[in-house]
Amino acid sequence: MKKLLLSLIFSTIIAATPGMGQSRLTLEVDHATAAIKPYMWGIFFEDINFGADGGLYAELVKNRSFEFYEPMMGWKEASKEEGNGKIFILKREQKKPVNPTYLRIDSRNDQGLYGVVNEGFRGMGVRANERYNFSVIARKADGDTPEVVVELVNSEGSVIGQTTITGFTKEWQKLEGSLTSSQTDPKASLRVMVKGKGIVDMDMISLFPENTWKNRKNGLRADLVQMLYDLKPGFLRFPGGCIVEGHDLSLRYQWKKTVGPVEEREMIINRWNTEFMHRHTPDYFQSFGLGFYEYFLLAEDLGAEPLPILNCGMACQYNTGELVPLDELDPYIQDALDLIEFANGDTTTQWGKLRAQMGHPQPFNLKFLGIGNEQWGEQYVERYQKFAEVLRQKHPEIMLVGGSGPKPEDERFHYLWNEMKDEEVDLIDEHYYMSPDWFFSNADRYDDYDRNGPKVFAGEYAAHGPEKEYPLSKNTWLSALSEAAFMTGLVRNADVVNMASYAPLMAHVEAWQWRPDLIWFDNLNVVGTPNYYVQKLYSTCTGNEVLNITKDGSPLTGQNKLYASASRDKNNGKVYIKLVNASNNSQEVIINMNGNAKFDKKATVYLMTADDPLAYNTFETPKKVVPVQSTIKIKGKVIHETLQPMSFYVFEIGAKF
Ligand code: AHR
Repeated sequence: MKKLLLSLIFSTIIAATPGMGQSRLTLEVDHATAAIKPYMWGIFFEDINFGADGGLYAELVKNRSFEFYEPMMGWKEASKEEGNGKIFILKREQKKPVNPTYLRIDSRNDQGLYGVVNEGFRGMGVRANERYNFSVIARKADGDTPEVVVELVNSEGSVIGQTTITGFTKEWQKLEGSLTSSQTDPKASLRVMVKGKGIVDMDMISLFPENTWKNRKNGLRADLVQMLYDLKPGFLRFPGGCIVEGHDLSLRYQWKKTVGPVEEREMIINRWNTEFMHRHTPDYFQSFGLGFYEYFLLAEDLGAEPLPILNCGMACQYNTGELVPLDELDPYIQDALDLIEFANGDTTTQWGKLRAQMGHPQPFNLKFLGIGNEQWGEQYVERYQKFAEVLRQKHPEIMLVGGSGPKPEDERFHYLWNEMKDEEVDLIDEHYYMSPDWFFSNADRYDDYDRNGPKVFAGEYAAHGPEKEYPLSKNTWLSALSEAAFMTGLVRNADVVNMASYAPLMAHVEAWQWRPDLIWFDNLNVVGTPNYYVQKLYSTCTGNEVLNITKDGSPLTGQNKLYASASRDKNNGKVYIKLVNASNNSQEVIINMNGNAKFDKKATVYLMTADDPLAYNTFETPKKVVPVQSTIKIKGKVIHETLQPMSFYVFEIGAKF
């Protein structure tokens, strides 16, 4: 069956097309047809596939606050040198409803060590000679002044780092220490043990690498953020995705519960924990250590516009589809108003003050707000209207993003598009998780879109190729090439399509629920997919104005399996041409660049291709399908190139306009 599927895909997409000959293209360099928004190419972040907890958020301890449904999930009893005792789970629901559960270690032997060990998120990735910061909120419940020994243990059971914590009193307090790992190990664990006799209560047991993004204490994984930074994204959409909606309304994303001190952020189950029974992930919860403040900060670090998406009073329609009655929507709308205040408000306002207390007195300059994720039906329109009515009046400066459902061309989509247009929404969020074939055939999707309607936010898209065993194997060169072809249409129609982001963004190789994904990682490594490098070429070789590139007067949307787009940036003196050859033959292309501009004699070329359309990058071979840079000569105003089979080219040409 699999073989049949594969051969069908190949026959439709990359059938040999002999005798394609030479294509003569014309590029009009003097006349821009549209502006490209500086925020055109962005990223979509959701806590799916261990994207936040276990991924971007660098915390190494899983279930640090014992609030998982199974409070000891991720933890086990541990002892050394004849230590023994008992572990208890206690709950102070009245005193601390947000983080009620804590651990009691009752160490009963005068000798030895007794306590717990944490397994981390599929192990803890630690590196030799790097420092790790330990912290715990704890108190002495009984016994002498205790000492707590904290040990990093490698996958073979040997201690590779150690520190001792003292200073416990009868009051809850935060105690800290640090240790250095003597080895690199992707699957280490953390042991926390009371020395001798004594009873100690513990909560928020935490371990972070000292080396985080921008060295922020208890921050984000530096290698993963670097991958995002390298994309130079124009916007950061957060926090998803279906995670915004929740399986039911009680489990929706509530931004106010994700700001302030981490120990006061109420942990909830991650909706992807139970979403797919074939990828059931029972240890997937949301600590919200990566919360809205951190998202805004990340957007700022990346130079990206923050684009939060809020729940609109609807739970995921694939799950319960619970609705908030229209006359009870006010608290949801108030959340939106308060979020704008949190992001942009003066530090004397309630929420602006909190932002300042958290370390950012300057506003975050929020300009966009999404109302609902992937809702559909008139229930969505009614709720959108309620939000818009208030937001338009109180915050006309904020651009509103409305939804169009989960599919790019079904009845729900067309219904919502018309409704959203009537509502004069600023941007409509379109989602397409389709086959490579669909992407190749839809490069002209926006050529006939209404120029006077709302703008398009291609908010979630990815080409889904055939299944294979290895997680990364769906991120094939074929899927990436089809996206590159499709994206030529996004550039050409940048007057309509103002924003675009691939989805999902990240996946842990041992804990994913959804694939393909743009970036894959494990506890120590990260790899960009071919799709990542396609995105990167688009977002780093972008230009700010669209140029016409045609063959026989028409845009290239797949004729002879060729696709093209072009842009320029007068500020940096560059012309960018993107060409996709989706045939399995090489093709000769001659591009005549018309106009008064003077071109450098050499151009930079970035070429992506692979012998096998089903090739993909792995941790072992991360550079199998990546852009290869070279230079070509330009004769006068002509580029003459033979395009390799199944290839994506970006030409970057210096020009004086
Ligand atoms: O990107 C994965 C999921 O796909 C998103 O959470 C949702 O919006 C879409 O259905």
